[in-house]
Amino acid sequence: MLHYQFTLLTIFASVLVLTSTGCSHSTPVVEAYQPTIAQEGKDVVWIPTPTDLAERLLQAAKVTSSDLVYDLGAGDGKIAILAAQKYKATAVGVEFNPDMAEYARKNVQRAGVSDKVTIITGDIFKEDFSKASVVTLYLLPALNLKLRPTLLAMKPGTRIVSNTFTMGLWAADQTIQGDNGNIGYLWIVPANIQGHWSFAGLPDMGSASVQLTLQQEFQVVNGTLSANDGKSSQPISGRLEGTKLSFDYRDATGMHRTVVAQLINGELQGYLKDQPAIPVVGKKTS
Ligand SMILES: C[S@@+](CC[C@H](N)C(=O)[O-])C[C@H]1O[C@@H](n2cnc3c(N)ncnc32)[C@H](O)[C@@H]1O
Repeated sequence: MLHYQFTLLTIFASVLVLTSTGCSHSTPVVEAYQPTIAQEGKDVVWIPTPTDLAERLLQAAKVTSSDLVYDLGAGDGKIAILAAQKYKATAVGVEFNPDMAEYARKNVQRAGVSDKVTIITGDIFKEDFSKASVVTLYLLPALNLKLRPTLLAMKPGTRIVSNTFTMGLWAADQTIQGDNGNIGYLWIVPANIQGHWSFAGLPDMGSASVQLTLQQEFQVVNGTLSANDGKSSQPISGRLEGTKLSFDYRDATGMHRTVVAQLINGELQGYLKDQPAIPVVGKKTS
């Protein structure tokens, strides 16, 4: 009898232990909230970016462990999670829908990247993402345009990638192909170099320094290069990649040259592509 009671107690205790600890692993975890594809969002519905395109967008943005990636409209958190898991970046997802944001937080936990990823419940038009070095978007053309002034005011060199949608007249620096015809775009925030510059170091120009007047439309640069002897002036066209300017001109002998220069502390410091040992320095005059 005593033995029987002891056995019953043991079984009861085992059931208690199983219920409170290990047993749950055989029972599927039921999520209280399950999002559905194309469900309404504040400004745009939720559709997750396909994984292949998400990977290629982050690759095109050259995401590394030193980046801070912001996904604006984070959905289930997949882009922020991928940025942390595959590229070791720190990532923040901004999601307006509180249930979705909580769901994304659980996904972050499940993915084991809670130390690298934060999901903020918030509005992409109100949250401050100015510290991001990479911004990812899957919104709508009109929303991209609404964000554009804020994006253009970010630190030069900041990379922006967008699934499907463009940025109006700000042409992309790169187009990214996903599988199944999906497409994405990369922009690199250009520095502002519009104005008048005095350049020293350009050979065969008839004077030690030349004047360069630059106009800028996003990353596209046009202008006039004038030798100080006042004899020659020519239109030039160039391109900015963040803080890196490259432009072409013809020297006094008619030779085609390319200047590559970085904007460093307000100076354009660079070299001639065919003579990299000779420094070229541009100083802003107005
Ligand atoms: C098309 S989904 C993209 C999800 C994710 N970025 C991806 O690419 O997989 C857009 C997401 O933005 C959210 N959203 C819509 N308007 C928003 C706003 N004003 N602020 C923050 N999130 C918003 C939606 O709830 C939805 O989850």
